[in-house]
Amino acid sequence: MASKDTTDPVRMEKIVSLCKRRGFIFQAGELYGGLNGCWDYGPLGAELKRNLKDYWWRKTVQERDDVLGMDGSILTHQDVLKASGHIGGFSDPMVDCKACKGRFRADNLENLECGQKPSCKPGEHKACELTEPRAFDLMLSTKLGALATDDDPKAIAYLRPETAQSIFCQYKNILDSNRIKLPFGIAQVGKSFRNEINPRNYTFRSREFEQMEIEFFCRPEDGMRLTDEWLEARLNFYEEIGVPRAKLHILDVPDGERAFYSEKTYDIEYEFPFGIQELEGVAYRTNYDLRVHQEGSGRPLEYFDEETKERFLPHVVEPSAGCDRTVLAMICEAFDEEELTDEKGKKDVRTVMRFVPRMAPIKVGIFPLLKKNEEQVRICREIQKTLQPWMNVFYDDGGAVGRRYRRQDEVGTPFCVTVDFDTIGENDPAHQGTVTIRHRDSMEQERLPVSELLVWLLERVR
Ligand code: GAP
Repeated sequence: MASKDTTDPVRMEKIVSLCKRRGFIFQAGELYGGLNGCWDYGPLGAELKRNLKDYWWRKTVQERDDVLGMDGSILTHQDVLKASGHIGGFSDPMVDCKACKGRFRADNLENLECGQKPSCKPGEHKACELTEPRAFDLMLSTKLGALATDDDPKAIAYLRPETAQSIFCQYKNILDSNRIKLPFGIAQVGKSFRNEINPRNYTFRSREFEQMEIEFFCRPEDGMRLTDEWLEARLNFYEEIGVPRAKLHILDVPDGERAFYSEKTYDIEYEFPFGIQELEGVAYRTNYDLRVHQEGSGRPLEYFDEETKERFLPHVVEPSAGCDRTVLAMICEAFDEEELTDEKGKKDVRTVMRFVPRMAPIKVGIFPLLKKNEEQVRICREIQKTLQPWMNVFYDDGGAVGRRYRRQDEVGTPFCVTVDFDTIGENDPAHQGTVTIRHRDSMEQERLPVSELLVWLLERVR
């Protein structure tokens, strides 16, 4: 839950404004007044999100031999979600205010504002008139097929509320089509949809969002141990993408607050400027999911252990992360305003996004010192062509070079390469064929031969 001591609304406002100004994130449907709870990622946001998903996939699937990937359909058979308990059971408690006509999540009134002025929490203003809580269905549905009529219940399909269910439903196909033994995992990244009552805190709680989920199937006796191991692996992952351990909190969800089928759940929370909030859940779900799908489908989902000759339903450990929330955590963590003093004692503030290089949307800015110098421009364009197959780069020849550095600082580009008169041999001949590399964080510069640039960069941005 958000704690007032840890909130910093001014910082959050600056972050939201930078994200719009520099093209990270826009409100969906903004041209028409905005679609509440939905967001569009602009050019830099799309790169950042892609870097996160690619790195998660690389670390979770490609660099492990006990996890396989899949990419399931968003549209989901209603029977899948009946069996899983989502239909009829996936809801949040909601209250209405008869005075301001607002609708609020009843279990989160502490963090919401009512429609009265001066605004306060729902129920606290003397004019507030709250109803008793009732269950509000979070599922989003659609109708499939050309013949579907408004009243044909069979035509209803759901936009999945989590990526997990297609993993459980394909677990047997994946097991049978791959030579894999317990323990093993199936991983998926993709969109999920929930009709949240109060989407809020920028992209944090959205109605359309992406998840990065692993269902790790194991023997029952290994469930608790693997839950702890996955928690550790996931904490390391956050460190590697620039979200430090010191800003993460681990909530060992107590008995009575976990889902009824879970024997252990850890919430990994981050200190957002709007409070300490969940990024990911690591849950030991027992064999609940396979059991309900075995019952619901009438098809056997048991695992046969060749060595012990046992037949049983595997248990599951699920690290389930929010992609958009992790992007937001990376953005919040990267944002910095650094006070600088120049040689004449003049003070200035530099806005810099300190993304770790592997996550940065642009890896290198490439600048000719003088845009009218054809040789400098030609070398820059050559460098650009060499680097482009390997990483996202940005060519810029507009304005003073100092300004160009600042523009890249503001979007978190870790390195800038400048081709100058030394490069083309017009000053010190010893520097011919070298460029300056300027480091975003320290602002220090060094010279490097153009021929070594690619390898030097690859070592630092992977
Ligand atoms: N399969 C388990 C599951 O979906 P969850 O705690 O409901 O568990 C997992 O969701 C993660 O998905 C959360 O920790 C969060 O990062 C992300 N998530 C859930 N609802 C979200 C929403 N409305 N907007 C953005 N991210 C959300």
